[in-house]
Amino acid sequence: MALPVHPAGQHEADQPSIARVNDCWLEGSHHSDLDREYANHIALCAPHVPYLVRESRQLLRRMVEFLVGQGVRQFLDLGSGIPTQGHVHEVAQQIDPACRVLYVDNDPRVASDGAAVVAGTPGVAFVGADIRRPKEVLDTQEARELFDLSRPVGVLLIETLLYLRDEDDPAAVVKAYVDSVSSGSYVGIVHFSQNAELEEGLGLFSRMFGAPPLVTLRDRELLVDFFTGLELVEPGIAPVPLWRPEDDNPVRNPETVQVHAGLGRKP
Ligand SMILES: C[S@@+](CC[C@H](N)C(=O)[O-])C[C@H]1O[C@@H](n2cnc3c(N)ncnc32)[C@H](O)[C@@H]1O
Repeated sequence: MALPVHPAGQHEADQPSIARVNDCWLEGSHHSDLDREYANHIALCAPHVPYLVRESRQLLRRMVEFLVGQGVRQFLDLGSGIPTQGHVHEVAQQIDPACRVLYVDNDPRVASDGAAVVAGTPGVAFVGADIRRPKEVLDTQEARELFDLSRPVGVLLIETLLYLRDEDDPAAVVKAYVDSVSSGSYVGIVHFSQNAELEEGLGLFSRMFGAPPLVTLRDRELLVDFFTGLELVEPGIAPVPLWRPEDDNPVRNPETVQVHAGLGRKP
């Protein structure tokens, strides 16, 4: 399902940005009044979305901790948003300061804010680039300086692929990154799945406020395609709260959460 609106990376200066909206829900400091207003409009129409974003950030931490535990020390975060509030380098470098992280986002304002956030942090860089062009991303000076592609990379697409339309062939985009990294690398994906509540919320948003964020929701079955050729780590593709949960997870019916996560290892 695709719904019309602002393609990521083409925001006008006075347009809200979805990365800044996320920052608002994560209680960061990188958003404007306009972003907060937009966040409030989304939350009014789909009240569960801020919860889902916070769950995804917890998932990101669990996934990065798992990957560092598997020996991964290089991370490529595609469609990263602004790297604050427990983002990849904060989690990975807390375990091993030698971890290297490249953040990529095609929203120019996100890229400039993101670059400012990581400036001066050893082993971390931010590039403004379109993830649909993997060769360009991997050929940036930052990627070449940070990564040794003969060693495993953790490629992360956390709430990013829903901004690629079917005609962008997201499975081919993922495959291009998989083909570029070594055996023992991983691809981690979080994706909003097709569900009635969110579709109703987006419909309500368009009736109340105008065009909603442009997203393509995909069924869990469709997400399987993104892991072609990879070995899925247990528990496979699961609702976010059920992906390697911690004991204190308070969600009562986690299987009903319609955002799925998966992590695949390149054999
Ligand atoms: C939901 S937001 C941030 C998600 C972030 N990974 C997180 O976990 O909070 C999705 C981000 O993907 C970026 N994005 C969307 N399409 C993109 C593309 N083709 N290339 C690069 N970034 C993209 C958007 O600009 C936005 O910052």
